[in-house]
Amino acid sequence: MIGRLNHVAIVVPDLDAAAARYRDALGATVSEPHALPEHGVTTVFVELPNAKIELLHPLGDGSPIAPFLERNPSGGMHHLCYEVDDILAARDALRAAGARVLGDGEPRLGAHGKPVLFLHPKDFFGTLVELEQA
Ligand code: CO
Repeated sequence: MIGRLNHVAIVVPDLDAAAARYRDALGATVSEPHALPEHGVTTVFVELPNAKIELLHPLGDGSPIAPFLERNPSGGMHHLCYEVDDILAARDALRAAGARVLGDGEPRLGAHGKPVLFLHPKDFFGTLVELEQA
């Protein structure tokens, strides 16, 4: 079921500083910041040959990642995103295997305009997992 690693998301306290670090110290290709108000984040995409890194910073009131940044003021890894071919089939198989799907279990459009779901971190050894239909 599981496909490619699509991205690793990292919440950062200073988006410009984080983008500059990936660009200047690591020599990575980084995007301009994208404001995604419907997700409560601003993101910079770091393009790697085999996956992306998404640098995330809270946007607006009630951002879903604001509590994470409060708990981790210097930033930290927030989630991994794996690609799946069929997100509804993946959801049903994971539920049958005992994994908890967050929210109402209905896929939403993620940062790339594709359907995504999130799986409870306690069911994946402390890591929040996003599934994206590729
Ligand atoms: Co993500």
